[in-house]
Amino acid sequence: MAKVSKETRRKKVIEVLNKARAMELQAIYQYMNQHYNLDDMDYGELAAKMKLIAIDEMRHAEMFAERVKELGGEPVTGHDGKIAKGQKVEGMFPFDAKLEDDTIDDYNQFALVCRENGDSISMKIFEDIIDEEQIHYNYFDNVDAHIKKLGDTFLAKIAGTPSSTGLGNSGFAVSGGGE
Ligand SMILES: [Fe+2]
Ligand SMILES: [Fe+2]
Repeated sequence: MAKVSKETRRKKVIEVLNKARAMELQAIYQYMNQHYNLDDMDYGELAAKMKLIAIDEMRHAEMFAERVKELGGEPVTGHDGKIAKGQKVEGMFPFDAKLEDDTIDDYNQFALVCRENGDSISMKIFEDIIDEEQIHYNYFDNVDAHIKKLGDTFLAKIAGTPSSTGLGNSGFAVSGGGE
């Protein structure tokens, strides 16, 4: 096997870290947009949790950026694609569950790239973040199941609940994943 230079391996790791960062930036915009919509629809509790999940994604975007900088790269600033707007509440949760599921799959691939290129620190960052994306997936999938099963009965219970998340909160996964 030809020896791949350290520089080439480092670049490959920076590339996947930046791909992941663009995906996080995408998720932040997507979830903030949904947060405002849910707030407008007066589904306070769903809006609050969505906001906390967006805060988790901001922390992830930062973790990737910090690692890119440690490796001497430049963190990307653009997000990954188009933001879906004006979704109905029934459409949001399966959409987000798929987004998280696809993200977990991609991050597992990216973790392998880190491993193949000898960067166990970046690999560990991916593994830690995957755990939190799984918490997000479980939450979105759970809400989706409630809406599908109970529909308006479930939504009527949520309508008018408070949307406040308080100040200085640390996001969704860290605060117990919706428990
Ligand atoms: Fe994330
Ligand atoms: Fe997530």
